[in-house]
Amino acid sequence: MRSASFVLLGLMVLQGCKTGGGPNKFENAVAKQVKQKITVGGRDWKNPIEDSEENATIGAEHFQHHCMVCHGLDGHATGVPFASKMDPPVSDLSSRNVQDYTDGQLKWIIQNGISPSGMPSWEGILDDNEMWHIVAYIRHLPPQGSLGIPAVYQEAEAEHEHAEGKTKGKAQPKSRRKHTHRHPHPE
Ligand code: HEC
Repeated sequence: MRSASFVLLGLMVLQGCKTGGGPNKFENAVAKQVKQKITVGGRDWKNPIEDSEENATIGAEHFQHHCMVCHGLDGHATGVPFASKMDPPVSDLSSRNVQDYTDGQLKWIIQNGISPSGMPSWEGILDDNEMWHIVAYIRHLPPQGSLGIPAVYQEAEAEHEHAEGKTKGKAQPKSRRKHTHRHPHPE
């Protein structure tokens, strides 16, 4: 009986030695840091819609629905608090780099996204026609700041300014507002 448990103990100790830290962990870490360079396609795709104010207005509606959270209402990322903190940062769509793309390349970027950055792919979410209208909006962006801050970020901005003592209005910090909601109390 006794010897049997000694053998068992010995086996467990041996097993413990074998399962020590595996090699090459650092190789995975290195691989993760390698950023893939992608080539933007669509250079020769023909834009089937006219480059007009009307089409830009239709595109603006789609843009302000889908793209606003990162690119702002105006495409310049106005009021988007994390825009400059993303890596790479959210592009100002009026910038030379972006405007130098052909219409087809802009459509390609919307359709495929840019991996591995934060720019998502819209394949299956927006149809071709909607994407081309958004391209029209990108060609007719309004001046920076002219459309204000997206509503989703307005409260954050107001509280931030309050914290910095910039607002002279009657804004109350959240903690001092009347507590209106009810908590469910189990009996
Ligand atoms: C989750 C945030 C996010 C959303 C939503 C988003 N984008 Fe982007 N977008 C980015 C980021 C980040 C970049 C910068 C990518 C880079 O430089 O690699 C970018 C870059 C771009 C570029 C320029 C690429 C370049 O080479 O600089 C275009 C054009 C663009 N986005 C269009 C759109 C359109 C149109 C929509 C809506 C259909 C949209 N984006 C929605 C984050 C976003």
